[in-house]
Amino acid sequence: MAGTLDLFDDLPQEPERLAEGAWLLRGFALCDAAMLIDEIHRIANSSPFRHQVTPGGHSMSAAMTNCGGLGWVTDLQGYRYSVADPLTEHSWPEMPETFLQLAQRAAQAAEYHGFLPQSCLINRYETGARMSLHQDRDEQDLRAPIVSVSLGAPISFMFGGPKRADKPDRWKLEHGDVVVWGGASRLFYHGVAPLGKKADHPLTGAARYNLTFRKVY
Ligand code: SIN
Ligand code: FE2
Repeated sequence: MAGTLDLFDDLPQEPERLAEGAWLLRGFALCDAAMLIDEIHRIANSSPFRHQVTPGGHSMSAAMTNCGGLGWVTDLQGYRYSVADPLTEHSWPEMPETFLQLAQRAAQAAEYHGFLPQSCLINRYETGARMSLHQDRDEQDLRAPIVSVSLGAPISFMFGGPKRADKPDRWKLEHGDVVVWGGASRLFYHGVAPLGKKADHPLTGAARYNLTFRKVY
């Protein structure tokens, strides 16, 4: 029967397992993506993207801002969460309801119930920007998962193990993909390879955005 197979296009894809407790939900944010990108621009109008400096004195290649009650910041003094944007000295923009609901639905889909993030870090990658292997370990509550949303140009995501030396697997993350990790893999090393020169997306041009939702305490 003509068209029958099209029915399956709307079914959510099965989560792909990256490691114990870690799941890739392909296309999970597709329906919300355009709205999420609009919100990112709105947030950046109040708290602009900036290249933060690591405690070691290096300027990060990904530009960052935050929304929610707490924002992840770094400077020569260290990594930490801050209630105020050090650039504007005001609170971070509120976390939009669309952000919160998406993060909660994604956590739920990966079997993490009752996720209540206090922070959403927004990364912007342009050509050559990357995030070297690291652990997300500035949070006091390690029982909650990390929810990470990809928007715009695709990138190569690395997901390793509990030790920096563990060889990471690589996964191509595309517009609308969501990765959720917690439990046994909550402190696993991860990062992204440099955004390629040919990176392009109809909604973001040569940029890729990432939303990282975290419960801090
Ligand atoms: C990060 O883990 O800090 C960012 C990952 C990403 O951009 O996908
Ligand atoms: Fe991270």
